[in-house]
Parts: sequence; structure tokens; C-alpha cells
Amino acid sequence: MLLDTLPAAPERALDLGCGDGRLAALVLDGRTSVSEVIAVDISPPMLARARERFWGDPRVQVFEWDLEEPLDELGEFDLVISGFAIHHLEHARKQSLFKEVAHQLRPGGLFANLEVIQSATPELHATFRRLIGREMDDPEDRLAPVEAQLTWMREAGLQHVDCLWRWRGFALLVGTAGPPSPSVVTRT
Ligand SMILES: C[S@@+](CC[C@H](N)C(=O)[O-])C[C@H]1O[C@@H](n2cnc3c(N)ncnc32)[C@H](O)[C@@H]1O
Repeated sequence: MLLDTLPAAPERALDLGCGDGRLAALVLDGRTSVSEVIAVDISPPMLARARERFWGDPRVQVFEWDLEEPLDELGEFDLVISGFAIHHLEHARKQSLFKEVAHQLRPGGLFANLEVIQSATPELHATFRRLIGREMDDPEDRLAPVEAQLTWMREAGLQHVDCLWRWRGFALLVGTAGPPSPSVVTRT
């Protein structure tokens, strides 16, 4: 489903909370146009696994980065992906991060966020947890419902915002950057 959503020929991609680089590898395999991937994570063991995966691949830069930090230093992207990472952030940071993503995306660029989301009721959440074999919630989770996240993405200025896939507490949330605002001078 993620591959189906990707733009035809993205060049520069960002993976937020890349872990071992699984999603970045999927994107590189699925779109040969990608010439540069910035893969960031806060966990040294996960970064080590990502570096091992992409060792010798000049298209990929893996580095330590806290998603609490503003994204503007990382530059502009045709594609921003994230897998099961943003739900660790407080809701206020999710909202500001979505705004930063929208700002760093080039016109027509895609934000694709595969996430753990809050189920509609505690009973549905308990069923989800049982089905994925978890006895306890992760105390670091800050789960938000799909509806709220789609609203935050729209408020961030993203277009064509939707939940394109969902199974229980997992969802793929996507949005596209629109044309540049007339007040914005060309960014480099
Ligand atoms: C469940 S793993 C998913 C990894 C990968 N994206 C995937 O889909 O397989 C979540 C990742 O988010 C990272 N993460 C959590 N909070 C973060 C933060 N504040 N800044 C950067 N990375 C973070 C974790 O270190 C971990 O590697």
C-alpha cells in the first residue's frame, strides 16, 4: 500500500524514525528515481542496524536525530515517510511536526505515515493488543485517533489527506504538499 501511494519519480526522501531502515529500503527498491535518502532515528542500536543495511550505498545517509528537533535543517524532500515512530511524540509535537513536514515537502511531495493509532474504544484497543500479542501498552506510546491526525495534517496545509489503509490499531495516513503559496519565494 505504501508503494502504491508514492509519487512517480521522487528524488529526495526523508525517513523519520527509520529504525533499521526497513521502509527506506522499500522506497529505494520501489522507486529507482530516489537518489538521496536521509534516514534519522534517536536510537544508537537502531542506527547501527540501519548503517549496516545501507553500508556502501551512496544514496543513503543515516544519522542520529531527535524528532523533537525542527526539520528545516534537513532540507526539502519529495517524500517524507515514517513507520511506527511519530506516536511516541506528544500530540502538540505531532501537530508541529506535521506543519514542518508540509513546509519541507516540495510541491506535489508526499507525506506517508504508517502509524500505531488509538482505537475508537478501550474494548477495540484491548482486542488490537491481544491480536498483536501484547499484554501491556508501551508506556512511551502517545496514541492519537485517525480523525484527529487527519485534521492536524489538513491544518498543517497538506492536501488529499486520507487514511489509505487500516487494520485495527495500524493505519497509513497520507497527505500531499500543494503548490507553493504566492507569498513564498523560491526555497533552495
Ligand atoms: C517501532 S520502531 C519503527 C522503525 C521503522 N520506522 C520501521 O517501520 O520498521 C520506532 C522507531 O522510532 C524511533 N523513535 C522514537 N522516538 C523518536 C524520536 N523522538 N526521535 C527519533 N526517533 C525516534 C525509535 O528509536 C525506533 O527506531
